[in-house]
Amino acid sequence: MAVDTVIVNIAELATLAGPNDQPRRRKDLGDLGLLKDAYVAIADGKVLATGTGAPPPAKTVIDASGCTVTPGLIDPHTHLVFGGTREAEFVQRLEGATYAEILAAGGGIHHTVTATRAATVEELVRSGRQRLKRMLACGTTTLEAKSGYGLELETELKQLIAVKQLAEEGPQEIIATFMGAHAVPKGVDGDVYTQQVIDEMLPEVARRGLAAYCDVFCEQGVFTPQQTERIGRAAKALGLGVRIHADELSDLGGGALAATLEAASADHLLMMGEQSVQALAKSNTVAVMLPGTPFFLGMAERAPARALIDAGVAIAIGTDFNPGSCFSESLPMMMTLACLHLKLTPAEALACVTINAAHSLGLANRLGSLEPGKQADLVVWDAPNHAHLAYHFGVPLVRSVLKRGEVVL
Ligand code: NIG
Ligand code: FE
Repeated sequence: MAVDTVIVNIAELATLAGPNDQPRRRKDLGDLGLLKDAYVAIADGKVLATGTGAPPPAKTVIDASGCTVTPGLIDPHTHLVFGGTREAEFVQRLEGATYAEILAAGGGIHHTVTATRAATVEELVRSGRQRLKRMLACGTTTLEAKSGYGLELETELKQLIAVKQLAEEGPQEIIATFMGAHAVPKGVDGDVYTQQVIDEMLPEVARRGLAAYCDVFCEQGVFTPQQTERIGRAAKALGLGVRIHADELSDLGGGALAATLEAASADHLLMMGEQSVQALAKSNTVAVMLPGTPFFLGMAERAPARALIDAGVAIAIGTDFNPGSCFSESLPMMMTLACLHLKLTPAEALACVTINAAHSLGLANRLGSLEPGKQADLVVWDAPNHAHLAYHFGVPLVRSVLKRGEVVL
């Protein structure tokens, strides 16, 4: 087969090659399938071969001397599309207010709900596009994006339509998640709103094919485990996958509930108890750590990542990009925090934002590693080896990005 593009002289190539039927667990998490002085050959938007030695001839040759090449990064948890920003709340928090206090007082998510209801689809697309550009500059080639700042059918649909438009524009692939159950609207009873999500919102989202997943914020003062379970089961009955914001600010057994629901992911998990660890270990649910969130909220708690790895839980890492609890599009930043705060190795952190993030989104057959037949989504980093991605923090290290074999940055 004719080679379209070959990337040559790669100082270190992290292929992440390995079995793709299961997420990487335990020791396998840190096995990156590294090659030194390597090449990647691309044909038809797919990886044709990786190797060392003499590369095959190709129409386009990209020199990656001194660089690391990895699969395109995959962000399994973002709140990409919303109106307004919340820098005033950031200052309030610096002055001592907590995230939960601000939310309970009607600010926080509710502030963004007001701004998102007021925004047009075009405005949401325009701001979303800028954020995607920043994500691309940080190496993200695929991401999940949630609604959840409407808390009413019309605005939730508006957010998902904006996500769809952005996905059609590219270059990134975007997997949409309906999160009508992100907060209970002001002045509405939680059970009444839960019923509305189940009876009115979910069926319409499913009918229009606007989301692959449904997410619920299972939290003290937000949605109870019972309400979460009802919404999760309704979503599954409509053919949607389930993701859960679990055990973020309090331990309600959200991790175990996610396992019971056979959810694709249980996210946050700062406060999770042993029961949830054991339940997730026996499941295919991926535990998505979001280390930027406690960092940005000034919390001392950390997700028990090492205990999860030791127990055999599959873990991934995302940004949780949103205007309140983590206003950063950068997965490399999250890799640094995963090393410093969750005690992951740089290698494990890389697997968490590539192959295991792909698994949490059901995309691992096509994305997340550089192996023959897989999509040629990759990043050329201005870094001599993969450890620099986490170690050399807070600066732009992306030199170039390819999506489906095309140079997009
Ligand atoms: O994942 N936990 C709930 N939702 C987001 C925050 C959303 C917001 O503050 O706007 C989170 O942290
Ligand atoms: Fe979130």
